[in-house]
Amino acid sequence: MKIPDDILAVLADPRTVIEGDRVQIPFELGRPLYERVNKLLKEMGGRWDGRKAVRAHVFPHPVEHMMRHALLAGEYVSRYDTGWFPTPPDVAEEILTLAGITEKCPGLTVLEPSAGTGALAGPAAARGAIVDCVELDEHRAAVLAEHCRPNRVVRGDFLTDVAPLDYETGFKRVIMNPPFHDAVAHVNHALGFLGDDALLVAVMPDGIRWRSDRAHTELRQLVEDSGGELIKLPDDAFEPSGARVRTSLVYIPTYRGDGVVRNHSWHQRQPRQLSFEDLLAA
Ligand SMILES: C[S@@+](CC[C@H](N)C(=O)[O-])C[C@H]1O[C@@H](n2cnc3c(N)ncnc32)[C@H](O)[C@@H]1O
Repeated sequence: MKIPDDILAVLADPRTVIEGDRVQIPFELGRPLYERVNKLLKEMGGRWDGRKAVRAHVFPHPVEHMMRHALLAGEYVSRYDTGWFPTPPDVAEEILTLAGITEKCPGLTVLEPSAGTGALAGPAAARGAIVDCVELDEHRAAVLAEHCRPNRVVRGDFLTDVAPLDYETGFKRVIMNPPFHDAVAHVNHALGFLGDDALLVAVMPDGIRWRSDRAHTELRQLVEDSGGELIKLPDDAFEPSGARVRTSLVYIPTYRGDGVVRNHSWHQRQPRQLSFEDLLAA
């Protein structure tokens, strides 16, 4: 949900204290504006504590990460909108560790195909990875370009605007926290961008471990056949982003499992569909 400009100005004011589990606004606001700021902070999960020693909105978790991304994006995670929620730092750390993205291996090529404001892409680039991003939202794509030192940002729909063979070679790593309403489709599409000695780590709704429809069952089977893993995250893993969602990590390597993953080289081996121009030239 967008943060209205006047509320954004209050939250981004250098006098506003965003620290630990609280947001404190130590200056006067007109009553109508105060009420709207209060409503928004409550919607983000805060609770007003009026005791003299506190006088702040207190959250059940540290707020710096959530507020940093909210101020960068000019929007916040609301319980009414689950489209964007930045990966919390602990989960990002677990993903990067599983993916082996460390300062000790600089130069790994990484794709983040629904990169938001860079909660995964930023730390990966900071560790020396060469990070390509895709992001649908124009404003978030601009934030990525400005703040995350990416190799390249494509502003577009990952599922329809970006194809594996748009890239000359596969990526060493794909790390992602895709939109949850279409997470299976995003993960399946992302597999096509992996190189041969590569792996994907994705956050998905926890339903990936138990949902019985065909899409989920097939992806679970692929995880097993590829020698991959499903790892349940704590129920409150996304609380620091203001989101109440149960999640799991999905780990899929391409170097085990005897070529079961339809990765970049699989796409390269497929017969090329002749274009209209090719047919005319033939
Ligand atoms: C759950 S958020 C996660 C953001 C980021 N991956 C992170 O870990 O913080 C999902 C992001 O996917 C973006 N998105 C949604 N549909 C998309 C699509 N079809 N192609 C690319 N990005 C998409 C949304 O704009 C949002 O920023």
